[in-house]
Amino acid sequence: MHQASESRGGDVAPAQDTLLQMTNGYWITQIIYVAAKLGIADLLEGSPQGIDALAQATNTHAPSLYRLMRALAGLGMFMENEDGTYETTNLGRCLVSGSPGALRARAILNGEDWYRGWGGLLHSVRTGETAFEPITGMTFFEHLAANPETALVFNEAMASSTEAAATAVADAYDFSWCRTIVDVGGGTGAFLAVILKANPQARGILFDRPNVIAAAGGLLASAGVADRCDVVAGDFFQAVPSGGDLYLLSWIIHDWDDDRSVAILKNCRWVMPDDARLLLIEQIVPPGNQPSLSKLYDLHMLVLSGGRERREHEYRDLLAEAALELTRIIPTAVPRSVIESVPR
Ligand SMILES: C[S@@+](CC[C@H](N)C(=O)[O-])C[C@H]1O[C@@H](n2cnc3c(N)ncnc32)[C@H](O)[C@@H]1O
Repeated sequence: MHQASESRGGDVAPAQDTLLQMTNGYWITQIIYVAAKLGIADLLEGSPQGIDALAQATNTHAPSLYRLMRALAGLGMFMENEDGTYETTNLGRCLVSGSPGALRARAILNGEDWYRGWGGLLHSVRTGETAFEPITGMTFFEHLAANPETALVFNEAMASSTEAAATAVADAYDFSWCRTIVDVGGGTGAFLAVILKANPQARGILFDRPNVIAAAGGLLASAGVADRCDVVAGDFFQAVPSGGDLYLLSWIIHDWDDDRSVAILKNCRWVMPDDARLLLIEQIVPPGNQPSLSKLYDLHMLVLSGGRERREHEYRDLLAEAALELTRIIPTAVPRSVIESVPR
C-alpha cells in the first residue's frame, strides 16, 4: 500500500487540483452569469464605480455584491482600484452588450436555460433522451417560441458567435459563383449578412421560424444588405424556400438526431436544382482521444435538443440518405468546417 502510493506520489496532488478545478466549474459559470445578468460590465464601461453605486444601480445587497466583485476580480474580469472603485479588464469587457463577439447573452444562457438543461445530463445518459424536454415540457425551440425574452437572449448569443464564424467561412469558401443563397435556419441573419456583404453579386433568402424572422430586419439593415435579402418564415421540417443555387445550413444539423437531420436535408434537396450546392457549417469531431470542444458540444446537443456533433463519415452518410454527395470539407480559421455537397 505504502509503496504503491509513494510510486504515484508526485502525480497525485496536481491531478487532484486539476480535477477539483474541473468539478467546481459551475461556480464560475454562475459567478459570470450573475455579473452578466446584472449588467456590471455595461455599468462600468467608461466610468469606474464603487460598490454602493453599483449596488444601487443593480438593486442588489452591497456587501454581497462586494463579495461577487472580489471573486470576479480574482478571476481577472474586473479590477479593484485603490480608491475602492472597480473597472473592467479586457476579459470583463467581453460582457459589454452589443460589442463585437459579446458574450453577455451567452453567459446568461449558460447560467439559466442551458444550466437547467445540463442539470439533466444524467437522465440523458441513462435514457438517450434530451434533458430539456422533461424539465420544461417543451422542446428547446418550442421553449424559445413560448418565451420571447429568452429567445432574444438566444438570438443575440447566436448572432455574436456567428459573426466571427461567418467571416472565417467567407474567407475559406469561394461564394463568387452564387446568385441566390438560402440560409436555412439562419436565425436573425448574422451569418448571411457577412456572406452577402463580402459577395455583392449575391442575393439572399433568410429562412427561420416565424418568431425568429419577426426579429430579423435590424441586423440585415445595419449590415447594409437588407435590399438584397428576402426574409421568409416557415418550418424546415415542412419545406424550405426554392430558388437558391446555394443552400447554407450553419449549426443546424448538429441540433437534430439522424432522422430529423435527414428530413431537413431531404426538404432542401427537394427544391435544389441539379447544379445547386449545399453547405453545412459544423465542427467535425476528431477521432480518438484528441481533446476537442466538439466532444463537449456533442453533450450540449444531447441534453438540449437531442442533436449530436458528428464525425466526417457520419455527415457523408446523412447527406447520402438525402441524395446528396459530400464533395469536400474545407477547414476554416475557427473550429467550424465547410462541408460541401451536391445533388447525386
Ligand atoms: C443553433 S441556431 C443556428 C442559427 C444560425 N444558422 C447560426 O449559425 O448562427 C439554430 C436555428 O435553427 C432555427 N430552427 C429551429 N427549428 C426550426 C424549424 N423547425 N424551422 C426553421 N428554423 C428552425 C432556430 O430558430 C435557430 O435560429
